[in-house]
Amino acid sequence: MTTHDEQPVLKVEHLYKSFDERPVLVDVSLALHKGENLVILGRSGMGKSVLIKCIIGLIEPDEGTIYILGKNTTHLDHKALNEVRQKIGFSFQGSALYDSMTVRENLTFSLKRNLNIHDPQQLDAMVRDALRDVGLEHAIDQMPSELSGGMRKRIGIARCLILKPEIMLYDEPTAGLDPVTSSEINQLILEVKQKYHTSSIIITHDITCAKTTADRIIYMQDGRVYLEGTFEALDRKDDPQLETFFNYFKIQHQ
Ligand SMILES: Nc1ncnc2c1ncn2[C@@H]1O[C@H](COP(=O)(O)OP(=O)(O)OP(=O)(O)O)[C@@H](O)[C@H]1O
Ligand SMILES: [Mg+2]
Repeated sequence: MTTHDEQPVLKVEHLYKSFDERPVLVDVSLALHKGENLVILGRSGMGKSVLIKCIIGLIEPDEGTIYILGKNTTHLDHKALNEVRQKIGFSFQGSALYDSMTVRENLTFSLKRNLNIHDPQQLDAMVRDALRDVGLEHAIDQMPSELSGGMRKRIGIARCLILKPEIMLYDEPTAGLDPVTSSEINQLILEVKQKYHTSSIIITHDITCAKTTADRIIYMQDGRVYLEGTFEALDRKDDPQLETFFNYFKIQHQ
């Protein structure tokens, strides 16, 4: 059992966000502890991506406070926000690779822009290391269009890892992938935690992904934190809202 004596690496307090007066996030509070994989589970349209975009500063919340690595980042200016963002890897719901660049160029682009590294040998070594960690060194000179969905997801994750993030945010890491590829991505998320000692938020509506990767799960419903606990604890709750998810898991694993 993990103890949480230390300050959380990420904390969200009383977050509200509406679009055209339609509330999407309603008083969301949560904490991510060091070394933890926190899964945010919820059905489509429940505000999971909006939440993660608020955390990374792509969407400004209407109310509430966000602390990242001890710093209040809610209303930081662009430059200060970029400094904090460097410590966070964001694996997008789509993998968000640059289609006109090779895999190598996609990864070196981040290194040049974020870490100001330009030495070709150093770039090559860092790109190869990151690709090896996601099992795709052989794809270094391929174009994103030549890759499968699962491979693109891995490259998106490698592009985060190359910057040695302290926090990883995964938005729907298994969306659109077949069960075998999904389970490989779930394993990769566990390996990343082991090797890079990251603390991660994993946003998903995939119950198998939640079960495999989570130390703890937050179930979001109607823009609120509806339930929180381990997979087993939530399964035991016998809650009608969660039942659909858990039944689906049981059918898949019969
Ligand atoms: N920039 C935006 N402008 C207006 N409405 C938005 C914006 N971003 C999200 N929304 C709305 O907020 C709601 C929540 O969207 P969000 O993308 O967070 O859902 P989600 O839980 O991530 O769903 P999914 O599981 O399908 O990814 C949706 O109704 C969406 O239309
Ligand atoms: Mg989403």
